[in-house]
Amino acid sequence: MFADRVLSGMRPTGSLHLGHYHGVLKNWLTLQQKYECLFFVADWHALTTHYDAPEIIEQNTWNMVIDWLAAGVDPSQATLFIQSKVPAHAELYLLLSMITPLGWLERVPTYKDQQEKLTEKDLSTYGFLGYPLLQSADILIYRANLVPVGEDQAPHLEFTREISRRFNHIFGKEPGFEEKASQAIKKLGSKKSRLYRELRNRYQEHGDENALAEARSLLEEQQSLNTGDRERLFGYLEGGGRIILSEPETLLTKASKMPGLDGQKMSKSYGNTIGLREDADSVRKKIRTMPTDPARIRRSDPGDPAKCPVWQFHLLYSPDEVRDWVQQGCTTAGIGCLECKQPVIESILAEQAPILERARMYEEDPALMRNIVADGCEKANRLAEETMRDVREALGLSYL
Ligand code: TRP
Ligand code: SF4
Repeated sequence: MFADRVLSGMRPTGSLHLGHYHGVLKNWLTLQQKYECLFFVADWHALTTHYDAPEIIEQNTWNMVIDWLAAGVDPSQATLFIQSKVPAHAELYLLLSMITPLGWLERVPTYKDQQEKLTEKDLSTYGFLGYPLLQSADILIYRANLVPVGEDQAPHLEFTREISRRFNHIFGKEPGFEEKASQAIKKLGSKKSRLYRELRNRYQEHGDENALAEARSLLEEQQSLNTGDRERLFGYLEGGGRIILSEPETLLTKASKMPGLDGQKMSKSYGNTIGLREDADSVRKKIRTMPTDPARIRRSDPGDPAKCPVWQFHLLYSPDEVRDWVQQGCTTAGIGCLECKQPVIESILAEQAPILERARMYEEDPALMRNIVADGCEKANRLAEETMRDVREALGLSYL
């Protein structure tokens, strides 16, 4: 019904590292070429967990936008904006809250998980409970149908789909719709009308997509139904008469293959990262001091790349000849570890060079970036308004 539109957001809670680049950002670069893309800084989401440190938000926001642009997000292809500069997100969040069962929010797995994990913070707040609902508003307000997120966010997308269905179910009906739909069901005959109702329940109560498909094909086979009734029964299947908020699809982002300095996955919480824009001396130092196969105590001890975090970097960055050289040199003590690390250092610096180059442009002239974001916010506000008009009307709020 609507054209493809991609939306994704990131919380400005710290600076980005190469793990983000190889996971999220490179994926964005591919998407921006294919689809209309909206990428935003989720500053309100950052405050749900960092409400005790509001001073970090602004700095992190601008840094993150520079990181995106530096990584190659292209403002002529994608729209970049800041959540809090599109206040309609908050309006939709509020309106959705009217129909959001508390139990749905309490059952989102990240709610309890994060509370247990981040024990140093008091997350028994209304704002934190509402986190997935705010995310739903972010998505639904643009009628975005494609949302690239990591596995950890999949429950929030599922939640968003349920909220949109519930919203359409409650607010999307034409007057007398239920009655007309009931009449139309009767025309299916007793056996098929029972089946139709059963399939509809399975879909609406449990989100069973198979039941939806089965019910649709049941309707398609009914030659005797007139067009009006047929449309009504298709609409009734999915909840109401009209689809005001469309259901988004998850575009699962593959987990980044970027190893950390210690061989675990690269992550801020492990303290094993290399910054996207980390300066060259610091990169050299980090790689030179990173651990290797513990069996190589002396230069003359042979090693095993499989037991060495440096090898993970060669798998990501090095061509076959270099890998062969490592295998051969390491297992025969033919090369030293510093020597082995040198091509990795060079590959990382080469990867960062164009990123740093682009970043410099924005660092030297921040107005350039601020203008990009101002344009993005303006466009986002316009798109959000299109949906909000329909939403306000459906809720009886379109007076004055
Ligand atoms: N919760 C997401 C995260 O932590 C960030 C986010 C906020 C988001 N709103 C969104 C992602 C909307 C996709 C779509 O990564
Ligand atoms: Fe690791 Fe390379 Fe040293 Fe072997 S030679 S232990 S692969 S750093």
